[in-house]
Amino acid sequence: MNNIIKSVNLIYYSPTGTSRKIARAIGDGLKVNDLTESDITFKNNEINVFQENSLTVFVAPVYGGRIPPQFFERLGEINGNSAMCVVVVVYGNRHYDDALLELKNEVLKRGFRPIAAATFIGEHSFSRKNMPVAAGRPDHYDIGMAEHFGKEVIDKINTVANPGELYVQGNFPYKEIKPKQPVAPQSTDACCSCGLCIPACPTHAIYMDDENNIITDTDTCTLCCACVKICPNGARIFDTPFTKFLYENFSERKNPEFYF
Ligand SMILES: Cc1cc2nc3c(=O)[nH]c(=O)nc-3n(C[C@H](O)[C@H](O)[C@H](O)COP(=O)(O)O)c2cc1C
Repeated sequence: MNNIIKSVNLIYYSPTGTSRKIARAIGDGLKVNDLTESDITFKNNEINVFQENSLTVFVAPVYGGRIPPQFFERLGEINGNSAMCVVVVVYGNRHYDDALLELKNEVLKRGFRPIAAATFIGEHSFSRKNMPVAAGRPDHYDIGMAEHFGKEVIDKINTVANPGELYVQGNFPYKEIKPKQPVAPQSTDACCSCGLCIPACPTHAIYMDDENNIITDTDTCTLCCACVKICPNGARIFDTPFTKFLYENFSERKNPEFYF
């Protein structure tokens, strides 16, 4: 039973849905009736006033060991008002490098008090049927762990009156963000121009031309692969040597980590 936290905000950016699953499972574990979701994958966060007795759960995927810049763009101008928060990153079984530290530092700058953190594993955006990387994750076990994490967060809030500064793994200066190569997933001959991939793209990089061909702008594409995962015909392909590299080097199962 929790008497301190009256409301919970889940704020997540999740092109392929794994961060969303983790955010919701943590929300379930928190067991607070007043729960709002702010999915910032496609639109900006709309909550900017945070109540003292609220808890915000920030969940972001890891891109190149960092938080995708779209996460902070969509977050907009917010002021945490010293409200408590939890920071969580979801990564594709390689590593989260400096992403968790970056997320913690950025929410601190915006006036939140991080009291716990966690890392979870989601199917890698570049995973393929013949070279799976964390395929199907978060799975049943991960979801159970996320609910358990939510419960432990409430336990900490109820039992620790003045939590000290939260330690999380990571280095500063953060891992450098490499300039993006001019590549993007492409539609193959199996494409029936159904157009499902168009609204699935968080950065509006996909459009249909006058001849019903699906075109992808390589500059605005973030390689999130939401279009690849949503295509009902398997007609969207992102061919990258990175898939084989990940499959060969990062297939061994990693597990969630909690920081309190
Ligand atoms: C451009 C890009 C870079 C990525 N970099 C990493 C990484 O550095 N480490 C890792 O383990 N996974 C990495 N991933 C995999 C994602 O973190 C993982 O698939 C995550 O579950 C995606 O979250 P979402 O389903 O909420 O979109 C990357 C994915 C993309 C698209």
